[in-house]
Amino acid sequence: MTRRNGPAIRDTTLWLLLLVGAGFLAFGALGSWWAIPAFAAYGALYGGAADPRWHENGHGTAFKTRWPNDVVYLVASFMLLREPTLWRWSHVRHHSDTIIVGRDPEISFPRPFRFRSVLPNYLNLISGPHMLLRMAQHAAGKIDEDTREFVPEAEFPRVIREARAFVLILGAVVVWCVVAGSIVPLLFIGLPSFYGVWMVWFFAITQHAGLNEDVLDHRYSTRTVYMNPVFRFLYLNMNYHLEHHLFPSVPYHALPKLHEEVKQYLPAPKASVLDAYKEIVHALRMQRRNPDWEIPGREVPDSAAFRLTATKIPASSLATSMAVAAGLEERTDLGPLDLVQPGQVKRIDVGGHTYALFRTRRDIYALSDGLCTHGQTHLAEGHLDDCVIECPKHNGRFNVLTGEPVRRPARVPLVTYAVEIVDGRLLVALGDNPDVTSDAGT
Ligand code: FES
Repeated sequence: MTRRNGPAIRDTTLWLLLLVGAGFLAFGALGSWWAIPAFAAYGALYGGAADPRWHENGHGTAFKTRWPNDVVYLVASFMLLREPTLWRWSHVRHHSDTIIVGRDPEISFPRPFRFRSVLPNYLNLISGPHMLLRMAQHAAGKIDEDTREFVPEAEFPRVIREARAFVLILGAVVVWCVVAGSIVPLLFIGLPSFYGVWMVWFFAITQHAGLNEDVLDHRYSTRTVYMNPVFRFLYLNMNYHLEHHLFPSVPYHALPKLHEEVKQYLPAPKASVLDAYKEIVHALRMQRRNPDWEIPGREVPDSAAFRLTATKIPASSLATSMAVAAGLEERTDLGPLDLVQPGQVKRIDVGGHTYALFRTRRDIYALSDGLCTHGQTHLAEGHLDDCVIECPKHNGRFNVLTGEPVRRPARVPLVTYAVEIVDGRLLVALGDNPDVTSDAGT
């Protein structure tokens, strides 16, 4: 889960250079047949390769530094006509309820699949107009029912602001075309979101299509496919899609390594894109006739056989004797200082409550309630970076010293407890522990 700027700087720069290069070629080739392949390449890099950049930066895992993630996310959102805040929340829901029918707003291949929708989808002629219409509606200040379903109300003003900004930019390009009497500006900004989208679909179909709906174990609903280095660059390693769904806090550049570590627990990956397509097309055809048809022989290893040793520290192993000093609240003795290593977080259970004990690299200790206030996931499985813990489920973040949420979808603060060091031991006043507040509904 360790974040690095280097790989994302390299891959983002290369992507932008290729995009600009293809743009120059396309501009130079205007009026000749060479314009067709040049625009095809430009469109694929703009409306296609933007998708995995949008995705990785949206998770906040591409760069170690926060702001480049946000900037690339915004730019890629525009390229894909995706309203940034709306899609951030829709993607949170997608990770919680992956292809759960009626809950996941990002099911791209619903059963039964209509093959006649392939071509219009590959040219974005179905979702594109719908997204533009919704954007215009939001720009006018009207929030539609679908958006209300998964975006919290407090985010609506932001949704409206972003829609207005996007509409303004697209409107300016249209005006530019009218004034110049030429469609060329739109061929570079706006229309690539349609004619370049085929690449999004080319890769995206491999993620979940044809796999089990309505199961919470991602191994049944998500697929990993081996791809060549060029595809992996364009797709930013999202071919390790199952690993990503299981561990969304792992950055794209570490996914191949993660795959090696966990592949024994997962169904066998498909050997190539072709191999995956064969399985998918067959499954979609079978499910057209019988929507309950499932892919036979896709074995999911018995996870019970691999159950890991729990890392939690039960109350029984803690020195739970209460230190009571004159005038002081009761303290629970958590243990010695090396109970948790610098830069790490550990789960601790005391008296029916679960906590997360943090030790920053600067040796500051902190204790908070263990469950993320967004969706009840244990924070001890997350990534600690300085004083910020990232939830492993949807990448929400909290300052562990104050409990304040610092990245959505986390919005409700964590309850924190002051940790004292007395004679080389960690003491904490847990008091009457209140129930954890949660906004798991969103
Ligand atoms: S469970 Fe959603 S951010 Fe933690």
